[in-house]
Amino acid sequence: MKTKILQKLKETDGYLSGQELCDALGISRTAVWKYVNKLKEEGYRIEAVPNKGYHLLHVPDVFTESEIKSRLSTQWAGREVVCYSLVDSTNNAAKIAAEQGGVHGTLFLAEQQSSGKGRRGRNWVSPPGTGIWMTILLRPQLEPSCASMLTLVAALSVSRAIEEVNGLKAQIKWPNDVVVNGKKVCGILTEMSAEMEWIHYVVIGLGINVNVEEFPKELEATATSLRIEGKREVERVPIICTFLSYFETDYENFIREQNLSRFLEEYNKRLVNCGREVRVLEPKGEYTGVARGIDPLGALIVEREKGEMVRITSGEVSVRGIYGYV
Ligand code: BTN
Repeated sequence: MKTKILQKLKETDGYLSGQELCDALGISRTAVWKYVNKLKEEGYRIEAVPNKGYHLLHVPDVFTESEIKSRLSTQWAGREVVCYSLVDSTNNAAKIAAEQGGVHGTLFLAEQQSSGKGRRGRNWVSPPGTGIWMTILLRPQLEPSCASMLTLVAALSVSRAIEEVNGLKAQIKWPNDVVVNGKKVCGILTEMSAEMEWIHYVVIGLGINVNVEEFPKELEATATSLRIEGKREVERVPIICTFLSYFETDYENFIREQNLSRFLEEYNKRLVNCGREVRVLEPKGEYTGVARGIDPLGALIVEREKGEMVRITSGEVSVRGIYGYV
């Protein structure tokens, strides 16, 4: 009901009378007043003028179910939202919910994570209010061996969202980083519970540095935020909703086709090191080559000397620029 009231207030230029709200939603004036107060507690500035009604003056950039839902245009992605002011890790929260029957498309969002997780057991710094720390729970009809491609689909959707909302050129560092001006703004951590031939669930966690102003010394050279690159404060909720909208369509296409053919051209255009020399770090050694783009199954193709083409599948392999991160 709170979401419906918020939606009505957003649709109205100026004042919306209490009576109109009661009639439209079939609730009492006291109920309207209670929900409006709840919205105010969440940071919305709503003016209430006798004989005129309610007027929405300011929408805060907060993670609440009502705020996300009132801006969503998806069928299933983010239709269930769980918001935390503090949680250990949204990936962990999503996995617990998945074990208890959580539905496909549920979004877990946190203002702050106390034990944000990165890839390869690293931690992910997740300070309060400055980033988007979110995880989407999926129940894909997909072979477990194909699940890693979902990370690439999410990377594409999130780079489009960043570009559309912030006007910044968003590139992808295969397989799971989104890069602006050569530095990382977003990392993706995909986790899965599966049997040999059957996926129980997949959780895709995205960490987007939005309004982070400073990074620890050791990250300064490789990490950045949308605020630093765009030189202005950025609203977080529009990025989330735009991402969900792209991801819903991209995911459906991918699941139907079970390969990345339709995304290849765009993905390879966004691939930050496409056509550039890269260092491939494998557990058994390292070599250099030129990145040539991904193939329909999501492997990175690297051309070694004498034209030998090597398919690199994610996992234990790490791909770096010759002189640094990209
Ligand atoms: C990486 O680049 O190493 C992946 C980072 C993924 C971070 C996000 S933040 C939301 C979600 N919850 C986590 O604990 N991790 C992911």
